[in-house]
Amino acid sequence: MLKSTIAPMLLTLHSKTKTNTILPFKTPIFCTLLPQSPPTVRRNASTKPLTIETPETPSYNLPPASAYIHLPFCRKRCHYCDFPIVALGSTSPETADDDPRILNYINTLIREIEATKTHFDPHPPLQTVFFGGGTPSLVPPRLVAKVLDTLRSRFGICLDAEISMEMDPGTFDDRKLKDLMGLGVNRVSLGVQAFQEELLKACGRAHGVKEVHEAIEIIGSCGVGNWSMDLISSLPNQTQEMWEESLRLTVEAQPNHVSVYDLQIEKDTKFGSLYTPGEFPLPSDTQSAKFYRMASRTLGEANYNHYEVSSYSKSSFECKHNYTYWINKPFYAFGLGSASYINGTRYSRPKKLKDYTNYVKNLEDGLVDLGEEDDVDEGEMAMDIVMLSFRTSKGLEFKSFVEDFGSEVAVELCKVYEPYMKSGHVLFLDDQRREITEDEFSSLVLDDEKLENEIGFIRLSDPDGFLLSNELISLAFGVIDP
Ligand SMILES: C[S@@+](CC[C@H](N)C(=O)[O-])C[C@H]1O[C@@H](n2cnc3c(N)ncnc32)[C@H](O)[C@@H]1O
Repeated sequence: MLKSTIAPMLLTLHSKTKTNTILPFKTPIFCTLLPQSPPTVRRNASTKPLTIETPETPSYNLPPASAYIHLPFCRKRCHYCDFPIVALGSTSPETADDDPRILNYINTLIREIEATKTHFDPHPPLQTVFFGGGTPSLVPPRLVAKVLDTLRSRFGICLDAEISMEMDPGTFDDRKLKDLMGLGVNRVSLGVQAFQEELLKACGRAHGVKEVHEAIEIIGSCGVGNWSMDLISSLPNQTQEMWEESLRLTVEAQPNHVSVYDLQIEKDTKFGSLYTPGEFPLPSDTQSAKFYRMASRTLGEANYNHYEVSSYSKSSFECKHNYTYWINKPFYAFGLGSASYINGTRYSRPKKLKDYTNYVKNLEDGLVDLGEEDDVDEGEMAMDIVMLSFRTSKGLEFKSFVEDFGSEVAVELCKVYEPYMKSGHVLFLDDQRREITEDEFSSLVLDDEKLENEIGFIRLSDPDGFLLSNELISLAFGVIDP
């Protein structure tokens, strides 16, 4: 259940990921976590094959206006982390300034951006840039400036673009943050994870609670107007009281945005070798679900809007960059292990530095073409759209789904969710986002045309529907690809 609602993104976004020797599969992460592939697809959802119609102007064919930049350096690897990172060891943020590993990487990254052909003319300037990691705040601002300059000259960056950076407590001071803000970084995503010394230690974090409070202080004193905090629930030995305390201190710190991730035990991590999901000292599924509900309630009461499965924000502080993922819009990605989404195709970059460097060389030599039109499998596209939009409180835009994939599959989707509407897990809304009642729905399902006209959105309820998202998404897959 909840365990499987959060996992590294592109592992789930199946077969469109290009896999060849230059671009080996096993995808990056933009530090945005998505649900794992659902378990077994329920094949009994529909008995006859459905026709999927081809959209005329799908949004994935638009030129990307977002760029993810992977800056992989960390002081050390956290015990839960399987992201593509480079552990610098005992390097302090000050000595990192001249670390040749960082200098070389930034040079390669810049070459990658410069060598990327766009296939779009004219090209819109970027509206969002997201520096994820790793720990981007370990990279000296003068090198961040070089990356931004390259993006600016290659694609342009809107004057009011959202430019986010993931930062770790203990890796920045007032001066560094002010320098970054001077470069245009206007959104900070602070990786806190927990407010208890023992939990931070058990996670192998390179900082303690003191540094967390200092980081919050620095963000406040520098006047960052838009910042987010990351927390992890279901950590080993995490008690309900600890989770309550973390949520309380988060609310007190007043970030504009909070991301709450349920711990994923990844294989080939220290946690993977130590723990089995569901077994002590990890919480049971029931306890994890309790943590999830508690986050939803506490943050809701503090006026955070639960706009996506793992994301909460104060009004109008949703992360614009991450939202491009949820609404299936295209985006560039640059750097080790990152994945882009252009013209309906996801491209993964290698996760090992040496392979990534070779990849960039191949790109420069014209051996990789990232933006060419590709055959897009409409069924897979429909599944991606359902899976991504069900993560959001907005939900699936029913009319555009009908337009893109045909009324037959869309109507069938409504019918398959009827029992879940009655159980309160799935909500049907009209075009004005008024909830359609059970009685109204019962009469609509008798007439396909009425159903098609009346439904505006389908969304999962919060928190019960979100907690059941895997099962519910599996049902949709059974309809789309019976
Ligand atoms: C790329 S990581 C951020 C890295 C950054 N250096 C930090 O540690 O805060 C983005 C977020 O993903 C979450 N995360 C990473 N691995 C996870 C896992 N295995 N389970 C749950 N959340 C995870 C953490 O909350 C982390 O802040």
